[in-house]
Amino acid sequence: MDISVKKGKIFEQICDVLILFIFQGSEHSDDFISTVLKEEKFKGKLCQSVLIRTDGKLPAKRVLVVGLGKKEEFDLQALRRASAAAYLTAKAIEPKTIALEFFSAPNFNAKQVAQAVVESIRLSDYSFTKYKKENGNGKNKTQSFVFVTDDGRILRQAQQGIEHGELAARATIFTRDLVNTPAQDMRPIDLVESAKSIAKGNGAIRVRVFDKAQLEKMGAGGILGIAKGSDDPPYLVHLTYRPKKKTKKKIAIVGKGITFDSGGLSLKPAASMFTMKIDMAGAADVLGLFSVIDEIAPAVEVHGIFAAVEHMPSGCAVRPGDILRAMNGKTMEILNTDAEGRVILADSLLYAVKQKPDMIIDLATLTGACMVALGDEITGVLSNDAKLANRVLTAAAGAEEKMWELPLEKNYKQFLKSDVADLKNIGGKYGDVISAGLFLEEFVNKTPWAHLDIAGPCFAERDFDEYTKKGATGHGVRTLIEFLKAF
Ligand code: BES
Ligand code: ZN
Ligand code: ZN
Repeated sequence: MDISVKKGKIFEQICDVLILFIFQGSEHSDDFISTVLKEEKFKGKLCQSVLIRTDGKLPAKRVLVVGLGKKEEFDLQALRRASAAAYLTAKAIEPKTIALEFFSAPNFNAKQVAQAVVESIRLSDYSFTKYKKENGNGKNKTQSFVFVTDDGRILRQAQQGIEHGELAARATIFTRDLVNTPAQDMRPIDLVESAKSIAKGNGAIRVRVFDKAQLEKMGAGGILGIAKGSDDPPYLVHLTYRPKKKTKKKIAIVGKGITFDSGGLSLKPAASMFTMKIDMAGAADVLGLFSVIDEIAPAVEVHGIFAAVEHMPSGCAVRPGDILRAMNGKTMEILNTDAEGRVILADSLLYAVKQKPDMIIDLATLTGACMVALGDEITGVLSNDAKLANRVLTAAAGAEEKMWELPLEKNYKQFLKSDVADLKNIGGKYGDVISAGLFLEEFVNKTPWAHLDIAGPCFAERDFDEYTKKGATGHGVRTLIEFLKAF
């Protein structure tokens, strides 16, 4: 399906479905439409819709009127939801062509509007059907989706919005596919291959992969220790994006790449384990970002770093009570093997620090406690640098991804003290999302750093909204894109 914008009169459009948005309680200027809406008791509530056959009264075969909700409550999230609802309703009747009346929103420019609409229709169109017999390929009969505006001055802006929306959706879908793929086909080596294929033939991106033998030489005892229980060896992956214009600014983006988290010998109960293919969502966010990074073309050097590790119990697995030594010599007493993310991140962050970045952002499906605190739709942000935290939160707001800051309470550091090692990998009884953050902070050596605990929102166990259906969400990617665009 091709998405474009053109100048024209909306009621002159020849198409299968013509989409019109309308605010709650407002009337439509066209008599015919207005009469039908009254008959259908259409109120314009958010996502409410009426499909009208025009029977030759208009060149368009059908008009789909979709509610935007109350004008005073309108925001881009409302527009995204209404657009996705409109698109999915239209799609059900298999139209070849859809036209949408370009919508001038209070407080938002044409670029923002176009981007929001494009992102949400692309994301609502996503489904993961690779493993189904009827895999839905070629199901989408719609060939074109056209924004129509009679205001020639906004064409350029709308076009830019379409391009940004396409890019953000593509990156998000890239991440969704990686996260949805079952762990049987998403081994540590598969994450490595994904990184390599992104870098292949792309002059702006370089990739380095460290295998088990190299990790041993580097002394990455955290990564190696957690990987011991698996038959598959671990890797450390380092992607570098260098902008065309030389720049001194450097940013490192680190992801948690546990391809499956069984809990290890501190085995997870069955009900907590069955979604644990998602434990590489942080790494998948890094890969999603890098899949489009040369199109974003930020004026900053970007380092994408993740350890790809499978976490399994076995006769070789790390035991509770074992002590692992991270790359900087710090020792970690493993009291609960299921708190493995922070242990592999210790080495990943130390490796990131070695690149001398101005700032580090990590994304990790780190704690169930973050979901207890914020629910399943909101990412917890913990940072040692108020300015960076605000930049991340601003980017998240711009991308409409829900994030909320939690404190790195220093007084809780006492819970990480170990009797026999420098640190233990679990904290006190409460607030594990903060304990985990404090643990990571030990490995960033004062570099401005923000930690994003994406345990909840990376995967929807229910439909979150019209464009974030059950399954992997790709949450995090769009915030990273917004963040980089600000450079
Ligand atoms: N990968 C999990 C966290 C997780 C839970 C992600 C649910 C997504 C959904 C992590 O490795 C883990 O198991 N954390 C433990 C830590 C505990 C043992 C201190 C947890 O949260 O239960
Ligand atoms: Zn775990
Ligand atoms: Zn985990």
